[in-house]
Amino acid sequence: MAQKVNLKLADRKFWKNKKVFLTGHTSFKGTWLKLWLEYMGAHVDGYSINYPSYPKSFYKTIYKKKIKRENILNFEKLKKRILKTKPDIVFHFAAQSILSEAKKNPFKNYETNIIGTAKVLEACSLSVNTKLVSIITSDKCYEENNALKYYSENSLLGGSEPYSASKASAEIISKSYQKKYQKLKKKIITLRAGNVVGGGDWKKDRLITDVMNSIEKKKQLIIRNPNSTRPWQHVLDCLNGYLLASEYSYNSKFTFNTWNFSPPLRDQISVIKFVKNIILNFNYPISKIIKGKNEFYESTKLNLVSNKAYKEIKWKSILTQKNVILFLVEWYKAYYRKEKMKIFSQNQIYKFYKMAKR
Ligand SMILES: NC(=O)c1ccc[n+]([C@@H]2O[C@H](COP(=O)([O-])OP(=O)(O)OC[C@H]3O[C@@H](n4cnc5c(N)ncnc54)[C@H](O)[C@@H]3O)[C@@H](O)[C@H]2O)c1
Repeated sequence: MAQKVNLKLADRKFWKNKKVFLTGHTSFKGTWLKLWLEYMGAHVDGYSINYPSYPKSFYKTIYKKKIKRENILNFEKLKKRILKTKPDIVFHFAAQSILSEAKKNPFKNYETNIIGTAKVLEACSLSVNTKLVSIITSDKCYEENNALKYYSENSLLGGSEPYSASKASAEIISKSYQKKYQKLKKKIITLRAGNVVGGGDWKKDRLITDVMNSIEKKKQLIIRNPNSTRPWQHVLDCLNGYLLASEYSYNSKFTFNTWNFSPPLRDQISVIKFVKNIILNFNYPISKIIKGKNEFYESTKLNLVSNKAYKEIKWKSILTQKNVILFLVEWYKAYYRKEKMKIFSQNQIYKFYKMAKR
């Protein structure tokens, strides 16, 4: 349904000819952002250690080319690449992004997400041209408190398991660079979003991957926490927030800032409700859903508000929950029909612009 509010979209004029460097450009979010930035005329360069999912990978599906495998933990190489690229803006997506992996290998998780963030900030501090570093953290960076109705930007940082703790730590590391960046006339922002969904996510242990695998292979679907609530958000809405916050911060007087990006609270529904909505659109028999064992700790309730983003940068979700599901289901259906997915994904970006204008 159309929303009668003044919704803002990433400004093509701002991004045209900007040099943008993405750590984790092969990630689910990074690939979508690269596609969107290229649509706006930005020059995009990327730095990633791998394709985050196997055998299917969104980056490979879209760009069909091999990447050079580069590690953010290799400071000398990272610094060299950033100094050579001379980016105006850096988005830091590279991370160990899976909760179950963090539990299995906490040291690697902490190293990538905490030390990795410090290395990116340190390398960018040496790059004269770089004015802004946008650090992608997570809604999981907050101290878990089930008594709270929702988390806002002022809620306490914390973490009840290694992934959350690493994202809270990345927040603290980012803030610790404020004074240094102020002297250098550079800016840092941290961007916190929740469960982001959209076409092309095939990462292991993610809900959409499990749903799509069960549809494709006609097998039962096992869901770990069917009754947990999550801030389901389409990747284009989330990235629109990242882009708007970056545009605003690039020219603002603040050295450090932070924003939540979440759908309206009424759309932050349970896992089972969300899955049933997807399955209905695929005409898939829902009787085959079973509750799986909880092998690692996850918070049960995670509601987020983003009033600050609306107030300051006029960001609000453009897609209603019905449209989030439609965008998602249409993408996977097109993939299974073997359509040209780069064109299909670009068309979803145009469609997103059209929906915002309605
Ligand atoms: N997907 C979500 O729902 C979600 C929710 C909240 C926050 N986030 C955060 O958003 C960011 C992107 O998430 P995603 O799901 O698109 O990521 P992803 O898991 O799809 O990809 C991770 C990326 O990080 C890169 N990477 C990992 N370790 C690296 C290293 N040492 N050196 C260089 N590159 C490295 C990988 O190559 C890949 O490009 C991450 O920071 C993640 O924690 C994601």
